[in-house]
Amino acid sequence: MLIVRELSKKFGGINAVDDLSFNVKKGTIHSIIGPNGAGKTTLVNMITGIYKVTRGEIYLQKGDLADLPPNNDDIKDMIHGIRENITNMPMHKLVHKGVCRTFQHLEICENLTVLENIMLSFNRFMSKNIFLSSIRSKKITENEQKYEYEAIKYLKIFNLEEIIYRKAGSLSYGVLKKIEIIRALSTKPRLILFDEPMAGLNPKETAGVSQIIKEIAKDGLSVILVEHDMKMVMQVSDEVTVVNFGRKLANGTPLEIANNEDVIKAYLGTKYVKN
Ligand SMILES: Nc1ncnc2c1ncn2[C@@H]1O[C@H](COP(=O)(O)OP(=O)(O)OP(=O)(O)O)[C@@H](O)[C@H]1O
Ligand SMILES: [Mg+2]
Repeated sequence: MLIVRELSKKFGGINAVDDLSFNVKKGTIHSIIGPNGAGKTTLVNMITGIYKVTRGEIYLQKGDLADLPPNNDDIKDMIHGIRENITNMPMHKLVHKGVCRTFQHLEICENLTVLENIMLSFNRFMSKNIFLSSIRSKKITENEQKYEYEAIKYLKIFNLEEIIYRKAGSLSYGVLKKIEIIRALSTKPRLILFDEPMAGLNPKETAGVSQIIKEIAKDGLSVILVEHDMKMVMQVSDEVTVVNFGRKLANGTPLEIANNEDVIKAYLGTKYVKN
């Protein structure tokens, strides 16, 4: 689904990401782990076009026609060739290619309802033509309806339909995290990136979000997961890439990573034991 090739990012003298290469297979959960400051968020920011890369390339597998988001106008592009160079492509374009993400910090308006919050991000992600959106053309409205339908579908799947019209400010942090994930899912992505979705959640909420991530990968979606919660990483991942000082330290199945001496020394501290 995604090829990251020899990717680097420099901030002044710091090599935040240094010659990093890995592939994400379609329909898998691919975790990125490593110590604080290892370069994980920088990597996600490059893949999602927030940071310009210093060097290297990122390729995305092209979608089937059936995968196309409702208002995608790049059909010709999608049919020719199987891969597309998405290096430095901005987020609003990536959404149309089926790439979406959640952020480490919540971006929620407390005095809007859950549905309004979700629709707000629709406008931010999807309405690339300001003139069209300002006159609320039929096309935009139709797309909004499709997006709202997706949002409500996921709210139901996650047993959150009762809070659709509740003000976001009255909800717990755990529920808001789920809403953020639904918001990303509603854009119908093929690849979704999570940057520490478990941060600040209690064990019960962690289990809930973990379940959601497993479910979405079952639907054929590919997931990149940056996470410090090793229990979760070991349970849900198909493949794990370990980053240390911006470089790839190891790559493998969760079991291989858990037993890798270099990874234990640099990050895990002790052997991860399944319980
Ligand atoms: N915008 C920036 N400007 C300057 N330096 C930055 C910037 N963003 C990240 N860095 C530096 O790049 C390095 C990698 O940071 P990054 O946030 O990617 O690490 P991380 O692996 O996500 O860490 P954590 O697990 O704590 O979230 C750090 O040394 C950080 O200080
Ligand atoms: Mg980070």
